This record gives sequence, C-alpha cells and structure tokens, in this order.
Amino acid sequence: MGGTSDSEHPWWERGVVYQVYPRSFQDSGGNGVGDLAGIERRLDYLASLGVDAIWLSPVFPSPMVDFGYDVADYTGIDPLFGTMAEFDRLLSGAHARGLRLLLDFVPNHSSDQHPWFRESRSSRDNPKRDWYIWRDPKLGADGSRHPPNNWISDFGGSAWAWDEATGQYYLHAMLPQQPDLNWRNPEVRAAMFDVMRFWFERGVDGFRIDVLWHIVKAQGLPDNPPNPDWEPGINERDRVIQLYSTDQPEAHEIAAEMREIADGYSVRTGQERVLIGEIFLPFGRLAAWAGTPARPEVHMPFNFSLIENPWDAATIAGLIADYEASLPAWGWPNWVLGSHDAQRTAARVGQAQARVAMMLLLTLRGTPTLYQGDELGIGEVAIPPDRVRDPRELRQPGLGLGRDPSRTPMAWDGSPHGGFSETEPWLPLHSDWRARNVAAEERDPTSMLSLTRALLRLRRAEAALSVGDYAPVAGDGALLAYERRVGETRLLVALNLGDKALALPNAARGGERLLSTLPGEATELRGNEGLIVRIAA
Ligand code: NOJ
Repeated sequence: MGGTSDSEHPWWERGVVYQVYPRSFQDSGGNGVGDLAGIERRLDYLASLGVDAIWLSPVFPSPMVDFGYDVADYTGIDPLFGTMAEFDRLLSGAHARGLRLLLDFVPNHSSDQHPWFRESRSSRDNPKRDWYIWRDPKLGADGSRHPPNNWISDFGGSAWAWDEATGQYYLHAMLPQQPDLNWRNPEVRAAMFDVMRFWFERGVDGFRIDVLWHIVKAQGLPDNPPNPDWEPGINERDRVIQLYSTDQPEAHEIAAEMREIADGYSVRTGQERVLIGEIFLPFGRLAAWAGTPARPEVHMPFNFSLIENPWDAATIAGLIADYEASLPAWGWPNWVLGSHDAQRTAARVGQAQARVAMMLLLTLRGTPTLYQGDELGIGEVAIPPDRVRDPRELRQPGLGLGRDPSRTPMAWDGSPHGGFSETEPWLPLHSDWRARNVAAEERDPTSMLSLTRALLRLRRAEAALSVGDYAPVAGDGALLAYERRVGETRLLVALNLGDKALALPNAARGGERLLSTLPGEATELRGNEGLIVRIAA
C-alpha cells in the first residue's frame, strides 16, 4: 500500500520545525529582550515538546531597525543576544538533545550599517560600489529628480533612497536601512556563500533563507506593471505587481549554488543539512524552487497558503489538493501556520478552531513549521500605541500590517512577566498570560499545550502521519477529512471547521479513536472537534 517507511526519509522530511523568535523566547540578561543563553535554558522544554529542529530568527549584529533582518555582520552574534561562545553552547546543547538548529540567512539585503554598504556609499568608485544596486535619478522635463523606476518597498514608499553625497539612488526592497545586495556581482555571491560555509563549519543544520524570491532583479530594472486591484487602504507595496523586482530566472541558479554548498556538507559530514526558502508565490511558481533532481534548489520553499487563505473547509481541501498536485515528483511538501510576520492563529480563527488548526498542521503530509507560542494558543495581543515597535506598522499605521502582536514574549509560568524576564519586556505579554503559560498548561490535560504534545507524540509514533500518503475523504460543509496511509496503516483525520456537530465519515465507524481536540467522546464529530481515528484494516 501507499507511503514509504520512516527510515527512507531524512530528518527534515520526518521532523517538525519550531520557530524561535529570539527577542521573545527567554531573557537571561534582565533587559527585557530574549537571548541565546535564555534559549539554551529552554532546550529541555523544546526537546520535551517533541519537535525536531529549531529555526532561530536572526541573531547577528544589527542596528535592529527591522529586528535583526538588517544584518551588519553575517558572521557574528549581536551582543544583545550574547556571544559566539554562547551560540556554540546553544548549538551543542541542541545537538545533545537530538534537536537540529537552523539559522536565518538574509541574503537579499544587509543593514546600511554593514561595512560593505558603508564602503559602497563612500564614493562612486569604491570597489564595493557595485555590491549594492545604485542608479542615477530619472530627471523630469523641469529638471526635477525622481527615483529610477516605480518599484515600491515592501514596507511602503519608493524602493529607492537618495544618497546626497554620491548623487545616486540605491535600491531597498525593504526599509531604506536595508539596501539590496547586488547578486549579479560575483564577489557578492562569493562573500555570501562564504557566510553559509562559516555557519555550516560551526555545525548548523541549515538555513531558513529570507525573501529568497527577491534576490535578483530583472536586467535594466524596468517599471513594474500597476496593479489594477490596488486601492488606498491596502498595503502600498501592492500598488504594483512585482513582476521585474522578484522571481527572476537567474535566482534559481543562485538557489542551486546554495544547495550545492549545503549538499557538500551533508555528504562530507553525513549530517543532512537543509535549506528552507522564504518564498511568497502561487503554487505554480513555488514548485520551481525545488529545482530538478540533477540541479536541486531549496529542500523546501515555504508554503504559506494556510495563512493566506480563508479558514474554510472547502477552500483548505482545495488548496491541499492544488499544492499536492503542484509538487514535482522529487519535491517534499511543507506547511506553515504561524510566524513572526503573520497574525496569531488563535487571533485569526479563535481559540476553539486554533485546536483544530493545530491538528491540521501536524497531520498534513509534509514538514510542519510551528511558531513559538502557538502551542500555548496565544491569541490577540493589544499593543498600546506608545509600545508599537514594528517598522511596518510605523511606516503605514492603521492598515493592520503591524507584526508586534505576534512577536510578544513567551509566558513560562505565573511569576512576574511570565518568567520571560525579570524586567518589563520589550513588548507586552498577552493579557491572559497568568493562565496561558507553559507551567499552567502543563498541569492541564485539556490545554492547547497538552494537545500539541499529544499530537507531536502521535506523529512521532505513527509514520503514516509524518511520511504517509495523503488521500482526501469527501465531505460537505464544515468537514475537512483525509486519510494518511503507510503500509497497512490507515489513519483518518476528521476536522470540523464549524461549531455545529457533523456526522463522522463512514470510514471512522468501528475505528480506534486515537486523539480528539476535545475532551470526552461522542458518536458524531462535535462542533470545533478534530479527531484522528485508526481505521480497521
Ligand atoms: C521576511 C522576514 O520574515 C521579515 O520579518 C522581514 O521584515 C523581511 N523578510 C525583511 O527581511
């Protein structure tokens, strides 16, 4: 029957990735910001949770204008987070517990404080001038100065910043403090590939690669076409379609070279290294980033479709089918349900559905990425106006683009500041942290944390859930049902995405109930219930 055995799959296909947002995981220095020593202190928690790999958002030296996604030194550790010795301790502590560690590689742009950019902007003939993307202004008929094209930054406003000293504009797809590197320059490629080698040599197990589809721009930098669907009130980024500024064919060559480096380390050390590309594209174009068997690219281009689509059974069934169909034979699926950029799942779909969502994430075919705090069911967090920190909110206030609510600290126990810090944290905690914290949820067998642990345990015990085949089961209305199969094993997952009871799929009759999102048992699928049933052979 379908599916392949567990041992035929590398760890990153069988495993679950857990995203740690270092600023908000655990503060050990008493300054209200999380750090590496704090993460190390919590490794036992992560190991006991049952995840396989930790992805750390950036911990490199940075002015923190975009909270670490503005890197000023790709091979260092920001003192705010600790030292290289502490990083090494974290890495070996993770490995000692069987956990892999992935870093966040930010190749599209550096900080404007990176020595490379400081040199680049120092004069037009500096050897590093071409490491970034500099252009002359476009001049209006009246002699007025304009950016070289109509590209818009993802944070709003023109993607070009004027440099008075050298009389040219530089490109920044993100903030002006994040100039885009010029990946058409071979020296840039070589320097950035060395960065990957530096961390691989230290023993990291791979990278999540930031905005990978942005990495190369079309030759000549033509204007992007206007987006006919844009209207005021929508993110300014979407005024134009990013046709020429993203997803260029040359980017695939770069991804393949990155993969070659990773594979070199996998072969040499016998430890499989993995690359996960952050790529926001429709399935049809996403699949290409897996490359070909002869010239593979990233192991997994992130699949954000669960975040980007309405929470509705028919929609989700459709997107699972479309995604599965879009994967090349050698591709491996993955699913993301939360991140430091997206709204919290429990805030979006409500607490009752967040439990169903967790069951979905951890039972779909492919590698799940679980975002810190989602295992506690952290929901909406109100950020008082004077505590807003996210540049995306600060640049375009009031459009609902702020990411602070999903970046608030973890709550570990009922002590002051939830045990996250001895002092007021950089962002406020969720208001219900006294009940919604790790210690309290560990004591409660019905908590979101207990459910998450149970799901991760079951996933580890049942190869069908991690590497088995996926087969949809027809369902009406709010029912989303599918089977996962390996060898003789058939597990039915039935999810009720609504709040009214539904009949269970026929296949569930006589089966063995393995796990429900709700306490107790019923003959039907209760409102907001998710259920996993072993189907009799
Ligand atoms: C994606 C990251 O996840 C986000 O937090 C960041 O602002 C942008 N890339 C720019 O690096």
